[in-house]
Amino acid sequence: MNGGCIVVEQSVGLQGEVALEGAKNAVLVIMASSVLASGVTILTNVPALADVFQMKQLLEQLGAVITFDQATKTMEINTTTLNDCVVSPELMRKMRASILVAGPLLARFGRARVALPGGCLLGARPIDLHLRAFARMGVAIEVVGEYLHMNAHPLCAQTFVLEYPSVGATENMMMAAVLTQGVTRIINAAVEPEVLDLIAILRKMGARIEIEVPGTLVIEGVSVLSAVEYEIIPDRLEAGTLLIAAAVTNGHISIPDCPHTVMDVFLERLTEMGHEITLHSANKGVTLKATDVPRAVSFRTGPYPGFPTDLQAPMMVAQCLALGTSVIYETVFENRLVHTRELQKMGAQIVQDGSLIATVKGVDCLYGASVIAPDIRASAALVIAGLAAQGQTIMTGIHHFRRGYTRLEDKLCALGARIKVQE
Ligand code: UD1
Repeated sequence: MNGGCIVVEQSVGLQGEVALEGAKNAVLVIMASSVLASGVTILTNVPALADVFQMKQLLEQLGAVITFDQATKTMEINTTTLNDCVVSPELMRKMRASILVAGPLLARFGRARVALPGGCLLGARPIDLHLRAFARMGVAIEVVGEYLHMNAHPLCAQTFVLEYPSVGATENMMMAAVLTQGVTRIINAAVEPEVLDLIAILRKMGARIEIEVPGTLVIEGVSVLSAVEYEIIPDRLEAGTLLIAAAVTNGHISIPDCPHTVMDVFLERLTEMGHEITLHSANKGVTLKATDVPRAVSFRTGPYPGFPTDLQAPMMVAQCLALGTSVIYETVFENRLVHTRELQKMGAQIVQDGSLIATVKGVDCLYGASVIAPDIRASAALVIAGLAAQGQTIMTGIHHFRRGYTRLEDKLCALGARIKVQE
């Protein structure tokens, strides 16, 4: 599973048109939400990602019967056969998003047995906000060996103020609330486009959810939801990754289905760098024509509509090759500058100040090197760095790349990149 590598040669001037896959961060939670209704949920525009296959396996472990036609990107999830509320440690460890099934299980069956996600309760990426929200809704939570035993007797509607607008906690709480009698309020909720996509399918299923400004979700519980057909939104993070690939290779690409209305801050930073961004229509489509003298811009990641943390690593690559110095502040995750060391191997001049701030001094060129992908988004960043670097870059740790992207290397090659994968 962890073997193989991606070999990237310098590739100047990516050019052409490219289409997006469905959004990873939307499809995973939407698959989990299928547990809320008994019936056959049909999802279209489903990306064939390793994480999607993990979530499929998880739902099958609960008793769902699932078919996934990769050619038509259509998945059918039959939840009439659900017969279990237990998610094994093996599945939990592979993917943190597994925790997203807890809310739907509690709502539908009043119980969930979910293994602890990779022993991380006290360390980075805890799930304390999820658990505090459940406890507030009346769920008794007990740690039994490797498992969290959760029993609702019954769930009760509450007003909950999230101290941080966590995407996962907002989603889990909302899914627990949609079948809970009374009115649940989530104040300081995450409003990422993927959260809004979840709200859209839940509404289609019959849920009553209102969004009040600023960042408050009001959920009026209903007694039953129905399985529906739903199309997953295009992946804004894949779009951002492709645009940066074009930017650092002095390229010129178009993404007709790029959801630019939810990418304002990111596109603004690219424009400040000097890249020419053209929007095709009011709601979708972007063309980027790179400048050959990109200027360094500083940025700070943050919850939506801030700069997405998932594009911080690729954007750091763009700063490595820009004119001037930029400062990057990672405010969402405490340990998400791990790609710095790998980029330094390629000649990048980056000084890290603790685990949250990086100062990047632009250089004229990067050099190919052997690098190791430390996580999903960093894997794409290193491939992009390889496209811009002189010589050959060999990246190992490609299972991270497979978790987040569907044949992204093929899309880049179709735009002129020289990439070979050795599985
Ligand atoms: C989701 C996305 C991920 C994205 C992130 C932020 C999926 C599958 N993943 O992750 O790609 O980078 O949103 O946009 O959708 N936190 C706590 N306690 C909790 C929950 C979170 O302290 O109970 C902290 C986390 O450690 C992190 C911050 O809150 O520092 C943001 O996490 P969160 O918004 O929950 O991200 P995820 O839902 O895990």
